[in-house]
Amino acid sequence: MRAASPLSLLRGPAWKNRIALAPLTNQQSHADGTLSDDEYRWLTMRAHGGFGLVMTCAAHVSATGQGFPGQLGIWSQAHMPGLARLADAIRETGAVSSVQLHHAGRRSPPELIGGQPVCAFDDPETGARAVATGEVEVLVEGFVSAGIRAQEAGFDGVEIHGAHGYLVGQFLDAENNHRTDGWGGDATGRTRFLKAIIDGLRASTRPDFQIGVRLSPERFGIDTMSTRTLVGDLMCEGCLDYVDLSLWDTFKQPVDPALQDRTLFGWFSDLPRHGTRLGATGRISGSATLEAALSAGADFAMIGRGAVLHHDFARRTLGSSAFASRALPVTRETLAAEGLGPAFVDYMSRWKGFVAE
Ligand SMILES: Cc1cc2nc3c(=O)[nH]c(=O)nc-3n(C[C@H](O)[C@H](O)[C@H](O)COP(=O)(O)O)c2cc1C
Repeated sequence: MRAASPLSLLRGPAWKNRIALAPLTNQQSHADGTLSDDEYRWLTMRAHGGFGLVMTCAAHVSATGQGFPGQLGIWSQAHMPGLARLADAIRETGAVSSVQLHHAGRRSPPELIGGQPVCAFDDPETGARAVATGEVEVLVEGFVSAGIRAQEAGFDGVEIHGAHGYLVGQFLDAENNHRTDGWGGDATGRTRFLKAIIDGLRASTRPDFQIGVRLSPERFGIDTMSTRTLVGDLMCEGCLDYVDLSLWDTFKQPVDPALQDRTLFGWFSDLPRHGTRLGATGRISGSATLEAALSAGADFAMIGRGAVLHHDFARRTLGSSAFASRALPVTRETLAAEGLGPAFVDYMSRWKGFVAE
């Protein structure tokens, strides 16, 4: 079985298999962003459940970048004891650990951050304001400092959240980021924010620190072919250990009518990787879809909802070629038994069709 083979990366420890826990917002942190026992339990159960990589939820890198109530924080020394406790416990299971670094940008609720959200551009819809040029560098520094904290806490690496239209994605947004100060406009300008974060993290972390990027290859003002160019460049530069494509359905066709002769993932799987690993996320719900994703060229698969439904999704898929995750909806009790605390169960109950009420 392909999924069982270890995955070496350009830097840092090999993953013991090709099954990674996707970043999953679970709203279980304390109001100040410190780790709670519920979040510790949720993640360490997945580490014990056989995942090769265990990633935290999107963790906000600055107080003003918070996107959700109960979100994990990585912007202050106060967050360090909880993060270190988590990193230690994941390491003990033999899984590799990572923190997803996140800033919600215009999608930060003002009541949560106590002020006006910031963005690459003015956004009348949310009331977010475009940051000044000097502030862009401060935002980059926020990601870099958070990465240093992750390293100091004992994590093996970080993933920059460049997907789903949050701050990094707002800089990548071709429809809206028309900045003329070098941080927007053409492709070079729009990708500069992401590249500055990668460069800053590389310069400030140890040589074996694993750095990945998650990208959305369509929607959110993102054009698939431009993303293909960006991913090709990043892989060629060798600055990243992996690229994680957030596809929502690994086997889907692209939205772009001109690109229908391949799957969306197929527009990335043929790029020369130069050792950078490529991951797929979306609708991998059992052994068959896992093997299909790897056969389609993914070096690893990230598991979201399957890992919510089964803390040991990885062990089960490795143990049987016939494993398929439970049918939806599931009861609150089932989710509690799988290690979700009450806040996370409530959050999942807002995902249509997930929880039987
Ligand atoms: C409850 C929930 C929370 C999520 N939180 C995050 C997150 O914090 N960061 C992120 O990049 N994606 C997040 N996602 C997206 C997942 O990482 C994943 O890409 C998506 O669920 C598709 O994979 P799946 O079909 O295996 O669930 C979330 C998805 C769900 C269902």
